[in-house]
Amino acid sequence: MLRHHHKVLLVGDGAVGSSFAFSLLQTTQEVDELVIVDLKKDKATGESLDLQDITPLTSPVNIHAGDYSDATDADVVVITAGVPRKPGETRLDLVNKNAKILSTIVTPIVESGFSGIFVVSSNPVDILTTLTQKLSGFPKHRVIGTGTSLDTARLDVLLSEKLDLPVNEIDAFILGEHGDTSFGAFDEATVNGKPLKEVANLTDQDYAALEKAVKARGSEIINGKGATFYGVAKYLAYIVRAIIENRNVMLPVSAPLTGQYGIKDLYLGLPAIINRTGIERVVDYDFSEAELKKLTLSATKMKEVLDNVEL
Ligand code: LAC
Repeated sequence: MLRHHHKVLLVGDGAVGSSFAFSLLQTTQEVDELVIVDLKKDKATGESLDLQDITPLTSPVNIHAGDYSDATDADVVVITAGVPRKPGETRLDLVNKNAKILSTIVTPIVESGFSGIFVVSSNPVDILTTLTQKLSGFPKHRVIGTGTSLDTARLDVLLSEKLDLPVNEIDAFILGEHGDTSFGAFDEATVNGKPLKEVANLTDQDYAALEKAVKARGSEIINGKGATFYGVAKYLAYIVRAIIENRNVMLPVSAPLTGQYGIKDLYLGLPAIINRTGIERVVDYDFSEAELKKLTLSATKMKEVLDNVEL
């Protein structure tokens, strides 16, 4: 049987976008066409040629520069466009600039007839994901943000160092805002399937220090190399693979709240199942009272920002 032609359109060929494209080609064999859209058309063309050079070692993919009208028959549109953080800036400092950029992207993509899934990584990602859904009018499950997938990776790395265990044995989520109000869901965390709190002898101070280190990690990277990109790019590729290959993976992403935990009309970092329908479902979590308070704080902060966004 002939397989459906899988097409991905990338908007934004900066450090995150190009790393995503490079990673995607190595993460899945099931993308047939990758279109790169950037205001700098020459950059997108050069990128396409450079990426074509890896396809003899990956799988044949039609890679080319394009424009928003190419979204018409795409399965996924990945949005990485926007200004990145500079040293000393928070993600929320970017909101008005990046919301304006976002609105110039989403409208022509919807006008192209695009009927696939949006995946957003531009910051502040929970806000921009919420705005992508509002601007597009798409059903909420067809819009996903990278959310706290990256913060979760950072926590797993830090915990593996602290406990001296392989990183793939650790399953501990950072949830809420991808930003300063995020929190570790330590009560539900596991090591090799066993509760972290039974396996490890960590104090409340240890948990607080881990959360703090996770939050500082992005700035630490920016201070060192000027930008962060491999981490978020790899999670973008992982999410796109889950959609294209219909893999039903569970990952904390910017997922839509529609009344759960008393929160609605907002995307926030929560574990969700991702497959070809987009967010197949947001996983119900049995949060402790303290965790619920933290989630509510993230939501309140995000709502405040959303209410003041200038498009
Ligand atoms: C980071 C950026 C992607 O945390 O927000 O690395």
